[in-house]
Order: sequence, then structure tokens, then C-alpha cells
Amino acid sequence: MLSLLLGMCVQAADVTVPDAGRNAYSHPMPGLSVETRRAHATGNSFFNENWIMAPGSASSRDGLGPYFNARSCSACHPLDGRGSPDSVALLVRMSMLSEGGSQPHPRYGDQIQTLALPGLKPEARIELTWQQVGDLRRPQLHIDDWREGEPDRALALSPRVGNAVFGLGLLEAVAVEEIERRADPEDRDGDGISGRVNRVWDKTSKSLMLGRFGWKANQPTLRQQAADAFLGDIGITSPVNPDEDGPPEIPHGGSPELSELLLQRVTTYLQTLAPPARREVDHPQVKQGERLFQALRCAACHVPELQTAADAHLAELRSKTFHPYTDLLLHDLGEGLADHRPDHEAEGREWRTAPLWGLGLQETVNGHTTLLHDGRARNAHEAILWHGGEATASQEAYQKLSEMEREALLRFLKSL
Ligand code: HEC
Ligand code: HEC
Repeated sequence: MLSLLLGMCVQAADVTVPDAGRNAYSHPMPGLSVETRRAHATGNSFFNENWIMAPGSASSRDGLGPYFNARSCSACHPLDGRGSPDSVALLVRMSMLSEGGSQPHPRYGDQIQTLALPGLKPEARIELTWQQVGDLRRPQLHIDDWREGEPDRALALSPRVGNAVFGLGLLEAVAVEEIERRADPEDRDGDGISGRVNRVWDKTSKSLMLGRFGWKANQPTLRQQAADAFLGDIGITSPVNPDEDGPPEIPHGGSPELSELLLQRVTTYLQTLAPPARREVDHPQVKQGERLFQALRCAACHVPELQTAADAHLAELRSKTFHPYTDLLLHDLGEGLADHRPDHEAEGREWRTAPLWGLGLQETVNGHTTLLHDGRARNAHEAILWHGGEATASQEAYQKLSEMEREALLRFLKSL
């Protein structure tokens, strides 16, 4: 009886942390075991670590490059939050388009690394400018100074900013069936909103898995997301990615440069960062905004409530109810936002429904309010105006709201 009661307490326990300050995104989830808490702390230090060139004085922290975009995870996910598009946090994915889909470029791979160790030339130089589109803006990439010459024409480029990284363990722990249940690829219910899952290659299990992370749900697990970030963004090999490009004479920081243990620690860190608690939940204007969020069918994609599986990998994450405002599915958001670069099964116009939790604290934590995959929206209002495709009806309904209704909806978003 006691254990049953305790079990219920654990289940009902809130996964959020009530801090509306600069560290709002950086708290471990409540109720972690001592062991998990310790793993979280070690992972935290490696997430913030500035990697150095090998050989370094601390062998577990060297191996930077030879090609890279930044020296630490936190450079692009500052304070576990979202990077600004006008910083290193914006990286450019790239692929060659062909009849059979898209492939990494034979010389430059699938991401442009803009930094390199001394004596080496970075892959290219990227300059980003903003093009005005009415009252909105969209990014324009200017890429030159290619290391080995300009690549062929049929190149698809996709600029993306580093997302906030809290709450992801909960998203990872949602059962596959729970996510698939909401997919409606043929739009059978005829509501104009379909939603598809992405299926991506998992290097550890060597099988296709449901994609959950990244702007196109292009990563299956936090372990692989972290390992691929270590390699692609910082130039650090790991058991998942033992090999890297570069001249053979460049010293390595071990093989692999990141041990299995440390990869696990960083993974645990990502799995156990708590989402921040909401504010002003009962304020009448916020309540009105919440009703409008439902009425405008924002919630058809930005699903308010999800539950983790009872058999989730980490005991602390089992059977949790939480409020991410995403369905983790891909939706066609129209031509305006399209990058025309297929990413596994995601098409050029498709993006994963961005979780909206923590949105209202972004300015406090990260000092900017830019949104969407490439940071083009300067605030939530602009982000909504960019919605097209399956979200056209919602976007048009938003435009028809009275000024007071709009304020209520935006205040609701600020309360998340
Ligand atoms: C150069 C900038 C940069 C660096 C450095 C970087 N990231 Fe990222 N991160 C990104 C971008 C951009 C995305 C979105 C990628 C995509 O959609 O393809 C991302 C996505 C993620 C996500 C998925 C977030 C979500 O909501 O789905 C996680 C987790 C993550 N990164 C962890 C890490 C870790 C761990 C490191 C360090 C090993 C790291 N990142 C280093 C830019 C960066
Ligand atoms: C058809 C599904 C769908 C509907 C309906 C929808 N959204 Fe979205 N929303 C998305 C997707 C997908 C993205 C990510 C797009 C991108 O980054 O290019 C997004 C992004 C956002 C963002 C930016 C989030 C971020 O992290 O950058 C906000 C804010 C937002 N939506 C609010 C709304 C509101 C408010 C409504 C209702 C008026 C709405 N959305 C309706 C799918 C939808």
C-alpha cells in the first residue's frame, strides 16, 4: 500500500522547475536519483566545456577539429537555450540533390564547417544577411572562399539555429505508438492537417527509428544527436562516430576522442534537464489566449499534453505527464518556410512542430526573441505569420483576430 501510494506521488510529481530567471532552462528535473544527478552534473560540465586542440593538458577534453563550427555545445545552446541566428549558433546543412533524393557532398559532407585548426582552411565562409519580405524578413546566405572549389549547382542549403535543449528526455520517452497515433499522412479526417513521422537511421541499433530531434525530426535519440553534434559541430569522435575527415598528420585527442562513459554522461544531461514552470496560468487574459490557441487549431499540431511511457529507459522519466506543445510530427508549413532540402523522409516544406514550452522565458535567458528554424521571426507574432501549408487556416484566423484577442494569444504564449 505504501509503495503504491509512493508510486502515485512520483507519478503526479511535477517535472517542471519554477525559476523565471536567467537559469530557467538549466535545472535538473526534480526527483532524480543520486546517481542520475551525478551523471547530470558531469554531463553539464562537458556540455559547457571549451574543447581544445590535441594534444592538450587534459586528455579527456582535447581533440577539437580539424574542422568545426564552435568549441562547445553551449556556444550554440547558450544557457541550455536557443542560439541567435546572428551568431555561431546558425549552422548550414547542405546536400547534393539527385533523382534518388539527396546525398552529402563528396568533399564537404552535409554541414559547412566554418572554422578549422591553425594551418588548415575552413570549408567555406558564410555571411548571412536579411532580406525584407513586406514587414517580415528571411535569411540570405552568401557563401564563398570554398576550401576545394565551389561545389556543383544542385546544392540544397538549410540554415538552422541551435534549439533550446531542456525537456528533451521527456520527448524521448514518449512511446512510438503515442506519436504514430496522431499522424494522419492522408488527412483522413479532412481537417487540412496531416502530420507524418520521420524515420531515420539509428547508428547504434542499426535500424530505422522514429525521428524526434532537430528541426526536421532528423535524429532518433539524444545519444545520437549528441554524438553527431560532437563530430559535426566540434570535430570530436566518439564510439558512435569513430572516424573524422582531415589530414592524417593532425594529432587526435585519442581514438575515439570522447569515451563511451562521457558520451553517456552528456546524454543523461540532455535527458534530465527540466522544462521551466509556466507563469500567470490563471490570469484571465492568459486564459482567453489559451482558448484562442484551441479555437485557432494551433493545438492540433502544438499538442499541449503528452505522457511518457511506463517503461521509459530512465526510471525517473516513466509515466510523466508534461506540456511541450508539440506532436513531434512533420508538417508541411508551406513554400515561405521551405528549405527544399529533404532530410531522411522529411521533405523540403516539412518541419517538426516546434515545442512551445519555455518560449516566454527566451528573452530573459538568451537575450533575444528570434524564432523558427533559421531565426527569421523576430517574435511570436512574426512566427505565426510565416505559418502556411497545413497551418494556413490557423494563420488566417490569427490575422482576423481583434487587437485584444491577439494580445491575449501572445500573452498565453508568453506564459509558457
Ligand atoms: C555550431 C552550433 C552547434 C553546436 C556547437 C552544437 N549544436 Fe546542438 N544543435 C545545433 C543546431 C543548428 C541544431 C538543429 C539541427 C537540425 O535541425 O538539424 C541542434 C540541435 C541539437 C539538439 C536537438 C534539439 C531539439 O529540440 O530537437 C540537441 C539535443 C543538441 N543540439 C545537443 C548538442 C550537444 C550535446 C552539443 C555538443 C556536443 C551540441 N548540440 C553542439 C547547433 C549546435
Ligand atoms: C500544421 C501544424 C501547425 C499549426 C496548425 C500551427 N503550427 Fe506553429 N509551428 C509548426 C511548425 C512545424 C513549426 C516550426 C516551423 C519552422 O521552424 O520553420 C511551428 C512554429 C511555431 C512557433 C515558433 C516556435 C519556435 O520554437 O521557433 C510559434 C510561436 C508557433 N508555431 C505558434 C503557433 C500558433 C500560435 C498557432 C496557431 C495560430 C500555430 N503555431 C499553428 C506547426 C504548426
